[in-house]
Amino acid sequence: METGSEVLRVWGLSKRFERERSMLQHLYDWWSGQSASKVQALCEVGMTIFAQETVGILGESGSGKSTLARILMGLLHSDEGGGMLLGNDLFDKRPGIRLANLRRMQMVFQDPFGSLDPRMSIKNILLEPFKIHGIADKQDWNRRLVDGLAEVGLEPNVLARYPAEFSGGQRQRIGICRALLLDPSVLIADEAVSALDVSVQAQILELLVRLKEARRLSLIFISHDVAVVRQLADRIIVLYRGSIVESLSADCLLKDAAHPYTRRLIGAALTLREGISKAVGVDVKKNDSVSEPQSAGCPFVAGCPEAFADCSDAPKLMELHPGHMVACHVPETVRAVEKIASLE
Ligand SMILES: Nc1ncnc2c1ncn2[C@@H]1O[C@H](COP(=O)(O)OP(=O)(O)OP(=O)(O)O)[C@@H](O)[C@H]1O
Ligand SMILES: [Mg+2]
Repeated sequence: METGSEVLRVWGLSKRFERERSMLQHLYDWWSGQSASKVQALCEVGMTIFAQETVGILGESGSGKSTLARILMGLLHSDEGGGMLLGNDLFDKRPGIRLANLRRMQMVFQDPFGSLDPRMSIKNILLEPFKIHGIADKQDWNRRLVDGLAEVGLEPNVLARYPAEFSGGQRQRIGICRALLLDPSVLIADEAVSALDVSVQAQILELLVRLKEARRLSLIFISHDVAVVRQLADRIIVLYRGSIVESLSADCLLKDAAHPYTRRLIGAALTLREGISKAVGVDVKKNDSVSEPQSAGCPFVAGCPEAFADCSDAPKLMELHPGHMVACHVPETVRAVEKIASLE
């Protein structure tokens, strides 16, 4: 597929969950006649992914990254919204279309220990996609498994072994091999390296980049780690409490990030790594908890050092420059002031 052609497009994806409650809270709510409060895990998320690009989804814990990934993979139903994957309705429930969509988009999970069934041999784990998708040519199965393992740097002798015999990095290689066996066009990696040691992380990232190039994949790389996302992605989408607050090219992230939340993430990453938060001029100490109730206006208003009166209205995602979208009243206002000044 040509670079730049649309592979995946989703729009208006929203998801609300009932807030998790203890048994005692359940009883109290029942006794007092209250229904469970809801968490808005995703709020009208839309994005387009093009052929052979790597899109990083960046956000802190609880921002809705995995909810988005699970909805894209059909593991979870969205309350609202729609999507298209290579000309198919992404959420069409008819089994034939669902299987075709699954073949085209696969996922590597965060937990290399939980994502492989410990009772199954690696051979049976890797054969599952062929069985589920009815790939009939059994003569070919073994060759495809051996080739797939070689691609992720593993020997054929792993086939007879069980997941418990492997390290986290090796298991993640097996997970990547399983995801690629059916030759998908899109690969979603949800925190695929965050459970691994730093040195193993680098090897798996290098493997993902190599495979993405060799197989001309579109990669959706989900992470809370600014440095990793910036290193890997062509374009970065920043999620905050289920809403996209900014989308921009990875090359422009440090220089041009316009949303105070994106700048706070960058500041926190720099503080952690180099102790130079002052370089980007953000107040990294100002923090807000994801468990705070959501306001009707901008979702970031409580934690924002730049909030002003307009922020009581929720900002829409608007184009700041070509390829750079932001949902914030501050750059919008600055731009309006600059325009007026240029007219005077
Ligand atoms: N099955 C569920 N039931 C209730 N609430 C849920 C469920 N799944 C997710 N949530 C809530 O939805 C919000 C988004 O969760 P999600 O797992 O998508 O975040 P995340 O960005 O992937 O976080 P992390 O970086 O920790 O993986 C959180 O507030 C979470 O508690
Ligand atoms: Mg997650």
